[in-house]
Amino acid sequence: MSDSDTHIPGGKLVLVEFDEGIAWVSMNRPEKRNAMNPALNSEMLAVLDALEVDDRCGVVVLTGSGDSYSAGMDLKEFFRESDSLAPEAWHQISRVAQTWQVTRLRHYPKPTIAMVNGWCFGGAFNSLVACDLAIAAEEAIFGLSEVNWGIIPAGNVLKSVAEVMTTRDGLYYTLTGETFDGRKAADMKLVNIAVPKAELRERTRALAKTLLSKNRAAVRAAKHAFRRVEALSWDDSEDYLAAKLDQLRLTDPEGGRNEGMRQFLDAKTYRPGLGGYQRTHKDSDKA
Ligand code: COA
Repeated sequence: MSDSDTHIPGGKLVLVEFDEGIAWVSMNRPEKRNAMNPALNSEMLAVLDALEVDDRCGVVVLTGSGDSYSAGMDLKEFFRESDSLAPEAWHQISRVAQTWQVTRLRHYPKPTIAMVNGWCFGGAFNSLVACDLAIAAEEAIFGLSEVNWGIIPAGNVLKSVAEVMTTRDGLYYTLTGETFDGRKAADMKLVNIAVPKAELRERTRALAKTLLSKNRAAVRAAKHAFRRVEALSWDDSEDYLAAKLDQLRLTDPEGGRNEGMRQFLDAKTYRPGLGGYQRTHKDSDKA
């Protein structure tokens, strides 16, 4: 698919900007602190579907417009206005939210980075955790605020929290509703790193560029495998990873394994422990 005939949905509640292989995807309701309403959720799902097959996107960076990542689910449009809906209609609205925030992002075929630029509350923890990597502004403010308004972090937010936070930290913030900043989020390993807000975009860009420099098929196989082995026994995991490795060797369009070995063992031009082999493959070729 060439750039000119690729149409990306969105443009209203979700903005997409292409930048040398990076797709910067922004939740775009800054006046509502990027609270996620049903329309934004639908638009995001369509955007992620489109980016999956768009050659201009090698890495997705998910962030928010203005000074917020996202203030969570929209209390008015996602919750209160849904109270009167039939169960089937509510199920549909909630399924779209879960699909993009959890299912789609966790198994997205391209690497994903959550860039937390400001407020990050409740439902926003889903996409934060589902992205492969996360980088926050030190000044960003996080909170599991549900207890403050009399509900629990449902919509699988607690499941996300329990995946990356310790029991002590997860329960502390779930039960107190206390906020914490980006530095604390990094201390707790909720995000990989926190940097001053003024450096956030450039540091995220550098991280995305590192991912883009790697063998694309290997990155995809590694992230899929990482998610899958969590649920497997040791024996099943061993089998699965062996099969996944064989699959990668057969399908990798740049034959990375052989080329990497050739450059290390024969040409002696690089050290795999210290960096990647010299790639000549163009990532716009179908992987
Ligand atoms: N749902 C719906 N609307 C929201 C929202 C949410 N989660 N978060 C913010 N908004 C709206 C506000 O109602 C307000 O709308 P208005 O201008 O029409 O009155 C607008 O966004 C700005 O919010 P405001 O509270 O004035 O901004 P602030 O910068 O002073 O505070 C927050 C920002 C994020 C601390 C605060 O908006 C907040 O606590 N939001 C709710 C967070 C939350 O509990 N999320 C969990 C949902 S699962």
